[in-house]
Amino acid sequence: MLHTNLSVNEKGHLTLAGQDVCALADKYSTPLFLMDEERIRNNCRTYIGAMKEFFPAGSRPLFASKSCCFKRIYEIMAEEGMGIDLVSPGELYTAAAAGFPLENAFFHGNNKTDRDIEYAIDSGVGYFVCDNLEELNSINETAGKKGIVQNILLRLSPGIDPHTQKKISTGKVDSKFGTAIETGQAKELCKYALTLDNVCLKGFHCHIGSQIFEYDSFANAAEIMLTFIAELWRDLGFETDILNLGGGFGVRYVESDPFIDYRENIKGLAGEIDRLCAALSVKKPAILMEPGRSIVADSGVTVYSVGSVKTITGYKSYVSIDGGMPDNPRFALYESDYTALIANKADREPDLVATIAGRCCESGDIIQEDVSLVTPERGDYLAVLVTGAYNFSMASNYNRIPRPPVVMIKGDGSDYVAVKRETYEDLIRNDI
Ligand SMILES: Cc1ncc(COP(=O)(O)O)c(C=O)c1O
Repeated sequence: MLHTNLSVNEKGHLTLAGQDVCALADKYSTPLFLMDEERIRNNCRTYIGAMKEFFPAGSRPLFASKSCCFKRIYEIMAEEGMGIDLVSPGELYTAAAAGFPLENAFFHGNNKTDRDIEYAIDSGVGYFVCDNLEELNSINETAGKKGIVQNILLRLSPGIDPHTQKKISTGKVDSKFGTAIETGQAKELCKYALTLDNVCLKGFHCHIGSQIFEYDSFANAAEIMLTFIAELWRDLGFETDILNLGGGFGVRYVESDPFIDYRENIKGLAGEIDRLCAALSVKKPAILMEPGRSIVADSGVTVYSVGSVKTITGYKSYVSIDGGMPDNPRFALYESDYTALIANKADREPDLVATIAGRCCESGDIIQEDVSLVTPERGDYLAVLVTGAYNFSMASNYNRIPRPPVVMIKGDGSDYVAVKRETYEDLIRNDI
């Protein structure tokens, strides 16, 4: 199977962390998000351990909230000693409600409003990842009114396309995020930040994209960022404490995705950073990374019930399920790859090539095209694997479909509801 927490039991049912996915679907109904808590914790430990072992003192991972955001996740992140990145006041509110220590939070976003900035300062957010000049002025002014000095990083665009999908690569010069190094604007912004009384510039952030399976793309970004850092030291005498290299490594969604050893990649990247710092004669900054999917994706399985199998003679077959783009919009958005199987027939050989269609009144409501499945019958369970990231957090109520619950399963065989299933009453809660 794709990941070591997935298997098939003696009944021929898919298991996640040793638990029968079909039994959980019987218990909680479908559609259903399942998450393996131990897997999330182990992924956190891998990053924390390797970053502590190989990177300079003060280095640590920040969990990218955008990949999966609800209160229980923040409790787990706090227990594991992770920092977090936040991109909206809603994520901030959720983290605060979970009791997450907000001094370990980094507040992102390319358009924070004055209200967002005030709320984050009042909440005691540790760092702002400042995107632009207007925001810098607003943070400085608000911090001044509150009588504090706010720690910030500046988000820069290093001008790298790591050959990932266009819509999820964010570090190129032509990007809505950050300030470009290449054009000289980053240096000007930095000089300006250093003149302000109520912000303390601690370092820089960049994010080059997602689904990166080898550390060389991060090493390329580090080279550009450290060269810039060396220039600031030489020209302005500014010493950088923190370099945040953005998101984490890639995740296997399908068999053709490569295996990746996070620890070895972090070790390799650390070697490159050491070499670059020595060659450029700069003090080694603490290194931050912001893994999202590589913390939570492989913990997740979504379970649906099959409603129909429609074969259009001479064309193709559609398997319709009781969820779809409202709980997983990633195929509709990016044509993302997923692995799907019939969870109650997981021991049988596939005999059908079919497109998995959601229940929305939308022909683009597809979970995956042309996948090999065991021919299902109405009532069978269809599982989509590796859905722990960017599924629940991207879920919507399109067509007024209630969001599925999130059920956490534990290594000791127990399970618990982390997020309740939405009700029809929830759907009309704010309708006047
Ligand atoms: C700024 C930033 N940090 C972190 C992440 C998390 O990336 P991933 O989930 O691929 O680790 C993203 C994702 O796009 C991002 O934009």
